[in-house]
Amino acid sequence: MSKPAFPLNAWYAAAYDVELKRALLPRMICSKPVVLYRKENGTPVALADACWHRLVPLSLGRLDGDNVICGYHGLEYDETGRCVYMPSQDTINPSACVKSYPIAEKHRFIWIWPGDPALADPALIPDMHWNQDPDWAADGKLIEVHCDYRLVVDNLMDLTHETFVHGSSIGNRAVAEAPFDASHSDRFAYITRWMEDIDPPPFWRKQYGRPGKVDRWQIIRFEAPCTVTIDVGVAEAGTGAKQGDRSKGVNGFVLNTITPSTDKTCLYFWAFARNYDLGNQARTHELREGVAGVFREDEEVLEAQQRAIDANPDHQFYNLNIDAGSMWARKLIDRMIDAELKPQTGPHAVAAE
Ligand code: FES
Ligand SMILES: [Fe+2]
Repeated sequence: MSKPAFPLNAWYAAAYDVELKRALLPRMICSKPVVLYRKENGTPVALADACWHRLVPLSLGRLDGDNVICGYHGLEYDETGRCVYMPSQDTINPSACVKSYPIAEKHRFIWIWPGDPALADPALIPDMHWNQDPDWAADGKLIEVHCDYRLVVDNLMDLTHETFVHGSSIGNRAVAEAPFDASHSDRFAYITRWMEDIDPPPFWRKQYGRPGKVDRWQIIRFEAPCTVTIDVGVAEAGTGAKQGDRSKGVNGFVLNTITPSTDKTCLYFWAFARNYDLGNQARTHELREGVAGVFREDEEVLEAQQRAIDANPDHQFYNLNIDAGSMWARKLIDRMIDAELKPQTGPHAVAAE
């Protein structure tokens, strides 16, 4: 059996907050069909999307209060997945239930934990606070990309591709030419790149709003297994941005979390947050649409890359200097997967006995 592509013991974004309503939303998360909905009080629920009786997807049924009614023979489940009604019989088979997943709403995303519920610690939800913070204006989208989620992680960990894929907006020669630093811890990998005294590319010229040279930064933080936040911006050249004074510039955060849907498809949730011109809703809208256009360029490359990988199954990737960040990211992902494959030892195994 080949190694799984993703760990299950992790929080994965399943939906944007605005997508989840008083309606049944089917999603494939880590190769598991899940149905999501909001209860009458607004709290989210995630259940396995397959009826206990004959496996018809519950998402084809309907909500009744906080319960889901299967659209085939009418079995009714409460929000914990327990069957509370069966047609034409008074006693309910005690084993009649569907799996319910740990779920949380935070920083505008609905997160679910597909693995062992006992390990679902809310403190492990990735930090995306810029997406819901009065000091930042943010918005974003969900894109469904037909590729292994790790290809998106690779893409974000190496921004030299901006020069070649996004030349009309955020890329220019300086990105591919500037050196970078790589570092990592158990759960995080970082790539930091400073481009000093450069002409900003068109996107940043517009955000900055002034002529002249800038110091530009990209500080990429990967949080295993699939969240990448990128601190980006430009400031007037030589005014100390690198040393910590960003007051002569503009700062954004590109927030990305990429949920494996299957081995070869993913749900790519992203947002762009800025800390300037906060009250300008038109700018929030324009930025979201502009960044969506940039990401469409990535999507084309990534889907073509996946098709090429499928057509060349024996070809190993070559790694260059620029791949340091993605190599660390993949190493941290592999560690999480390996930890799940090992026979359980340690405190959790004892507690489960
Ligand atoms: S398949 Fe759901 S009630 Fe029969
Ligand atoms: Fe890109």
